[in-house]
Formats: sequence, C-alpha cells, structure tokens
Amino acid sequence: MKKNIQKIQQFKAENKKITVLTAYDFSTAKYFDEAGVDIILIGDSLAQVILGLDKTTDISMTEMQVFTSAVARGVKEALIVADMPFMSSQIDKSKTVENALLLIKAGANAVKIEGASEFNLECIKHLTQNGVPVMGHLGFTPLSINALGGNKIQGKDAQKTFHILKEAKKLQEAGCFAIVLELMPAESARFITENIDIPTIGIGAGPDCSGQVLVSEDLLGKYDRFTPKFARKFTNLKEIILNSAKEYVKEVEQGTFPNASETFKLDSEEVKKLENYKNN
Ligand code: KIV
Repeated sequence: MKKNIQKIQQFKAENKKITVLTAYDFSTAKYFDEAGVDIILIGDSLAQVILGLDKTTDISMTEMQVFTSAVARGVKEALIVADMPFMSSQIDKSKTVENALLLIKAGANAVKIEGASEFNLECIKHLTQNGVPVMGHLGFTPLSINALGGNKIQGKDAQKTFHILKEAKKLQEAGCFAIVLELMPAESARFITENIDIPTIGIGAGPDCSGQVLVSEDLLGKYDRFTPKFARKFTNLKEIILNSAKEYVKEVEQGTFPNASETFKLDSEEVKKLENYKNN
C-alpha cells in the first residue's frame, strides 16, 4: 500500500523506525521500494554522487525534475520526497510554490526544504496550506555550506541544541511533516526528537532519531571520492562494477564473450547461401 505522510507520522507514535534512502534512477528506486524502504528521497546530493559535480549547489531545477520522474516510475509504495535545489526556494514565494509544484508534477509526493529562516517558514506555510507536504532539514544544511564554513558538526553544545530545537518547533508549526537532522551529536538529535511531535530523520545524528537516511551511493559502496564517518557501506558496488568490467574486457579480448547461447544463428540453408556467395 502507498505510504503517505500520515503513515510516516504514525510510525513515530508507534516507535517504529522510519527508513529513508536516496535514489536517483528507476531501477534503484524500484529495488529500494521492493525492499520496504519507507521514504525515497531524490536528494540534491545527486549533484556530486551521480553527476560528479563539486557542490550540491550545482544542481538545477530541470535536472531535479528529470531524476524525480525516473525515480517515481520505479516506486509503488514508498513516499517520494524531492529536494528543492539551490535557488528554487530562496528567491520568491510564488516561484518557490511553482518549483515545488513542478517536482510534484514530476512524481514527488512531498518536497524537502533546508533551513528555518523567516522566508522559508512563510514558504513552507504557504506550500503546506496548499496541499504540498514539506520535509524540513536542520543541523548541517549543505546548501548553506558557505555560511556554515564547511561540513561542520552542528548543535555541539546545549545552547546550540536549544537553538536547533527552536527552529524544529517553528518548522513543525509551519506544517512540516518530518525533519531531517544532519551531522550533530546523538544526544542533541535525541533531545530534539523527544521535544517535537513530528518524526526526525537522522543522518550523522546518532541512533535515536525517529528514522535514518543514507545516501544510496554510500550504502552501496559506489561513490569513492568521499565517505563520511557516519556512512556505513552495506556492500561494495565499486568492487563489483570494477570486477565485472575487467572480466568483460578479458572475455571480449579472449573471444569467449559472446558464447553460443548468447548468439543468434542463421538456418544452415541460409548459411550455405552465404558460403556460395563467397565462392562466386
Ligand atoms: O541530498 C541529500 O542526499 C540529502 C540527505 C543527506 C538527507 O539531503
């Protein structure tokens, strides 16, 4: 059965951990869905892990729409959330709504917006009041990397944690159905989770959030430029891809690929005609 935001919120009430993975293409999304992942996120991390760009801020709205529609075609049950990319939700309220609706049109069920500025809160209120579910994102927010001074752990003392809690409460009040908490001490994330009603989804935020999210290329061990301390490789797809490609090169060069069962054959009568042609 298709999961909706009410179901995701019910999981927190029932103490059932919420599972979230990023996906960017049809077949990966399909397999994650078949595996029972609750939420599939088309994260703007795709800038780096799929497109090989340097920064999350390098991805455009058009690209997010293309990847969102590919993912949506593979998913039956998971809730699909698409990231609002850089500049799509920071400039003006009606443009933000238009961009969110484009992602919904591409197949997302909800959008994710980073931060809790007054402008963001207004946009989130407007979107949620107009039927677009919004997931918030606090702690380390990659789109603000320049202001944050790099990939730095957030909420590192009680005062900073109180500040993030205050932001989380504002997001909840504005209508967010859940909030990603990125890169913060486990105790801070736990404190925030316990003091808001909506679910928190942690990444580098310890085990006590309402759920966890991982970038799929980290989970699968495929992206090798950088792996954060908190990301566990559940398999090593890089090795599998490398070994498969090496084996392919070897077999083609040796003439053992394709073999008889991988080859289409002409009838022997037709083969004779070809041979006669050679003899003319
Ligand atoms: O872009 C992304 O993949 C994300 C996750 C890290 C939550 O926002």
